[in-house]
Amino acid sequence: MNYISTSDFSQEQLQEMLDLAKQFKADGYSDELKGKVLTAVFYNPSLRTLLSFQTGMQKLGGIANVMQMGDSRKLEYGEGTVMDGGASEHIKEFVKVVASYSDVIAVRKSDFIPNKKGHQNDGISKEDYLADKFFDLLVELSDKPVINMESNMFHPCQSLADMLTMQEILGDVKKKKYVLTWAPHTKALPLATPHSQMITPSIFGMDVVVACPPEFNLDAGLMEKARMAAEKAGGSFEVTHDQKAALEGADIVCAKSWMSLENYGLSEFASEAREKYADWMVDDVAGAKFMHCLPVRRNLVASDSVIDNSVVIQEAENRMWAQMGILSYLLKGSTMKKSLTTTK
Ligand code: CP
Repeated sequence: MNYISTSDFSQEQLQEMLDLAKQFKADGYSDELKGKVLTAVFYNPSLRTLLSFQTGMQKLGGIANVMQMGDSRKLEYGEGTVMDGGASEHIKEFVKVVASYSDVIAVRKSDFIPNKKGHQNDGISKEDYLADKFFDLLVELSDKPVINMESNMFHPCQSLADMLTMQEILGDVKKKKYVLTWAPHTKALPLATPHSQMITPSIFGMDVVVACPPEFNLDAGLMEKARMAAEKAGGSFEVTHDQKAALEGADIVCAKSWMSLENYGLSEFASEAREKYADWMVDDVAGAKFMHCLPVRRNLVASDSVIDNSVVIQEAENRMWAQMGILSYLLKGSTMKKSLTTTK
């Protein structure tokens, strides 16, 4: 079993991971993964994901090996390529070797977005970006569970930690109003975090409102998936371009900056949008709790007072407990499955 997107799991399965996380948080540590090895591979920088996986695995009695892929170790992905260029190793050997030392592999790989229209050599085409094929390849090649620590399309560890935080604050989250709002930024940031932050609360039946300027709609297929998940769970799903109206009566306001799919690859659009939509900075959430995945740019994404009165530190700490729940679920198996086995 792999953990690539929360949309691959039912609400009950995700709740099992959360219940494990809550138990670990109450107990502080466990030795249930003694002798197990996590290899965490980072193609992109990280503070929270790296430290929380490393610490979480150690708190479970296991070993965490962290590998930061630099430019010196370029991998080839192509089928049948003559490897006479910069890449010295093919992903086929890389994954199988890493898997042979590990019980679980976690990978962060978010591609660089091309910065000029039609100039795809700087990065990856929009179609390939959205297809997130690298993780399909990882899952296909690895005989050990694979955890997505952030791909182009999903950041499922972040959104599970967010759900843990919301359950701690609200108790039952069903029908609670959750607003995911776009916010200005200096860069065209990836879609992974907002996609997962849209999908997971929908699976849990929250009343989900995505607020963004018209050019910043998230992936259409995933918005439809979120709508269907919310309706199935007894919640609702709505997209609005009116941030002020969206924030009214919110229980949770989660802010995030993300790129415009409509203007994919146009770096100048990101700076234009920053000026055009500067008033989307969150500077008042009334009685709602403010969340952000971090890192956050103060007084650009949200004001000092909003961040200083937020739950962002609780949310960041919960990355570790939630990931301990995921690791336990993947390596020890579902307790639902275990109880079904014992009652046979
Ligand atoms: N929120 C998050 O994933 O943080 P890092 O990029 O520091 O891991």
